[in-house]
Amino acid sequence: MAVERTLSIIKPDATERNLTGAIVAKFEESGLRVVASKRIHLTPAQAGQFYAVHAERPFYGELCEFMASAPVVVQVLEGEGAIAKNREVMGATNPADAAPGTIRAEFAKSVGENSVHGSDAPETAAEEIAFFFSGLELVG
Ligand code: CDP
Ligand code: MG
Repeated sequence: MAVERTLSIIKPDATERNLTGAIVAKFEESGLRVVASKRIHLTPAQAGQFYAVHAERPFYGELCEFMASAPVVVQVLEGEGAIAKNREVMGATNPADAAPGTIRAEFAKSVGENSVHGSDAPETAAEEIAFFFSGLELVG
């Protein structure tokens, strides 16, 4: 399997509860390496642009408001099959369906406030990494 990079966001519900370190530990324990990281506070417009793919979904307004409600930590994770590996470590979108030991099973508050974002495919990973980071900020 190829070495990949994927975009991760530690969401406001998790930064607010001081869970950044616990979540990064889950990534690192799984073999993923943090090659870029920054803490930022998105505006609602920036959150809306990032989640534009969901613009027609009923939860879009609430999602944008939530993502701008407190700081987030955006990171690039690198490793063998990093895109699928990160999704595995995150767990299912709805914490009620997330496998035991996953980030969402342990930390998510609800299907909306579910602690982490992760890219879902190579194309979206490349787009999402470029949304937040320049090449100079990726330090493998
Ligand atoms: O984040 P993930 O890729 O697992 O799920 P998604 O289907 O791409 O949805 C993006 C985000 O929208 C989720 O992580 C939730 O924060 C939110 N969402 C929601 O609020 N209500 C839903 N029924 C589905 C998703
Ligand atoms: Mg998604």
